[in-house]
Parts: sequence; structure tokens; C-alpha cells
Amino acid sequence: MLSDRFGRSIDYLRVSVTDRCDLRCTYCMPRDFKGYEDPPDWLSFAEIERVVAAFARLGTSRVRLTGGEPLTRRNLPQLATRLSSLPGVRDLSLSTNGTRLARHAEALRAAGISRVNVSLDTLDRNCMASITGRDCLPLVLQGLQAAKAAGLAPIKINMVAMRGVNDAEIDAMAEFCIAQQFMLRLIEVMPMGETGQNTAYLNLGPVQRRLADKFNLQPQALELGGGPARYWATADGHASIGYITPLSQHFCATCNRVRLSVDGSLYLCLGQERQYPLRPLLRAGASDAQLEQAIREAIELKPQEHDFGRQPEKIVRFMSQTGG
Ligand code: GTP
Ligand code: 5AD
Ligand code: SF4
Repeated sequence: MLSDRFGRSIDYLRVSVTDRCDLRCTYCMPRDFKGYEDPPDWLSFAEIERVVAAFARLGTSRVRLTGGEPLTRRNLPQLATRLSSLPGVRDLSLSTNGTRLARHAEALRAAGISRVNVSLDTLDRNCMASITGRDCLPLVLQGLQAAKAAGLAPIKINMVAMRGVNDAEIDAMAEFCIAQQFMLRLIEVMPMGETGQNTAYLNLGPVQRRLADKFNLQPQALELGGGPARYWATADGHASIGYITPLSQHFCATCNRVRLSVDGSLYLCLGQERQYPLRPLLRAGASDAQLEQAIREAIELKPQEHDFGRQPEKIVRFMSQTGG
């Protein structure tokens, strides 16, 4: 098992398969964004598979495909099939904006993706268009139903809560998710790139207390998700809401993950710019042992915690560059 300088086990790899997206969420990407990396510099499916296989040999069992929007990468289910068949990979999941889920849900399930996390910040069509830059709410809702019908479970809804933008809709979203048996996660916006710095931050502490009273929710054991969310649930377990609070209450002490960007660098922490490039090694014909050694060296660089909020440090990278 990989473990870092602070005794944390690293068993979760998040793989960004593209930096492109068909939406332009205000907190994630600049509206005029054209792409950071040249497609020839993107890792091929074979290269991604090599890196994931090396992580799996080192004890990583959870793998998440992210982007940009992962479903904009052509033939993504083929990559999923290759990754889900690797020995040691037990949990293969996908984070998506949902616009292409209706088309791909069945194929993803067949390819070994077991669960999806879908971004949905509002149930108001105009508000959705203004956040994402596109009139896409009906498409995303169809995508969610297709994911349910395909047996992808659980389905988690990621709602980035923003003061004065969608905070008045939190209760409606909670009711929708409870009725649909989706797991709602409320997320504090992180100051990533210029767009993320300019988004109206909302501290979720008070929201957490209010929703606990309203829906009779109790805090759950930390382990529930395997991710940064802290969950609150009803006694019968039918309804739960997760909170991802990198700023008001960070979860770095239990961090279990690193990220592979589309151009083949390992990012050791979402809230830091530090990275370790693997692509040169891969393209110079490194052996499996050399690749594993490089991964171990990279994990040594993992910081104790993020730099968000530590002025004047600013994360210039946009969220879409490494995935959420
Ligand atoms: P699960 O495996 O389902 O628990 O997934 P997840 O919550 O880790 O993944 P998802 O891609 O749905 O991310 C949800 C939110 O959590 C996004 O806003 C991510 O940016 C944020 N997030 C995920 N991992 C980290 C992390 O290590 N640090 C910080 N600061 N935020 C994270
Ligand atoms: N802060 C917090 N969450 C973000 N996401 C994208 N950008 C940000 C940000 N600046 C979320 C998306 C998606 C998840 C993978 O990351 O809403 O659901
Ligand atoms: Fe881990 Fe960095 Fe996220 Fe903290 S901010 S939980 S250290 S990746």
C-alpha cells in the first residue's frame, strides 16, 4: 500500500481524461476557454491504463474518471472496460456534468463503471443556463433517469452552493434528491483559477445545522463515503446529505487520493500547484519498476494540507485542468 509522509494511505486515483467540457460553469472554467493541452500531449488509453495498473499494483483500489467532462473523450467506455478489468481495481466511478449520460449510461455500466457523481447546482432552468452557459437542465435530468435505469448506484448529486446564486434552492434540491433516492452533496466553492476566486462563497456550517433539523438528520461515521464528504442521514438511512467543506472544515488529515492530469502529471493535492510529470517516463520506455518508483517518489511530495485561503498564495490552475 502507498503511504505518504504523514501516514495517510493513498488508495484512490482520480484520472482526468480530458480538459475539454461542453459547459462553462462559472466556478470552474473561463467562458472563452479553448483547451490547456494539445491533444498529442494527452495520455492515450494505453498510457492511462499503464499508470492505473501501476497504482493498482501499489494498492490503489478506487479509480475515478473525471475531466473536464469525461464523456467528451471519444470511446470512454472502452477505457472503462480496460480499467475495470485490472486486478485490484474494485471501485471504478465517474464524475460527470450529465449532459451526455442519457446516451452513454448503459455502455458505462456494461464497461464496469459502478457509480456516477453528477453536477447539478439548480433545478431552475434559467439559473442552470446562467451557471453553465448553456440551456442544459432537461438533458441533465434525462441523463440522471438513464443512469438510474442502467443500475448505476448510488447516484450522487454535486451541488456547489453559492451565495446569492443558488443558495435559496438548497431545500428544493434536498427534497428532489430524497424523492429520487439520489445522494445530495453540498460543496463549498474552492478558489481555483480566476473563475473560482470570483465565485460567491457560502459557508455550509449553518446550512448543515438547518437541514439536520428540517429533515431529522444525524451525523454518520467518517468512513461512509471514502471521499471528503461528511454525511448526515435519517435514522432509517433512506435520506442522506453529504457536505464537502474544504474551506470551513477541511478534511486533509484523512486524504487518500492523488490526481492524474490528462497530460500525464500527478497532482498531489487539489489545493496546490505541485506536480510530478510521468509522461516523459512513459514515452521514454520506462519499465514497470521505474514507473512504480516514480509514483512512490511523487507520493513523498504530497503536502500535509491545501493552500486555499493562505493569502497571497493563489491556485492559478482552473478546476477543469485536474478535475474536481
Ligand atoms: P466519492 O468517491 O463518491 O466520495 O467521490 P468524491 O466526492 O471524492 O468525488 P467528486 O468528483 O464527486 O467530487 C466532489 C467534490 O469534492 C468536488 O468539488 C471535488 O473538487 C471535491 N473534492 C474531491 N476530492 C477532494 C480533495 O481531495 N480535496 C478537496 N479540497 N476537494 C475534493
Ligand atoms: N469548487 C468546488 N467544486 C467545484 N467543482 C468544479 N469546480 C469547483 C470549484 N471551484 C465541482 C463540480 C463537480 C465536481 C467534480 O467538482 O461541481 O461536480
Ligand atoms: Fe487532500 Fe489536498 Fe484535498 Fe486536502 S485539499 S483533502 S490534502 S487533495
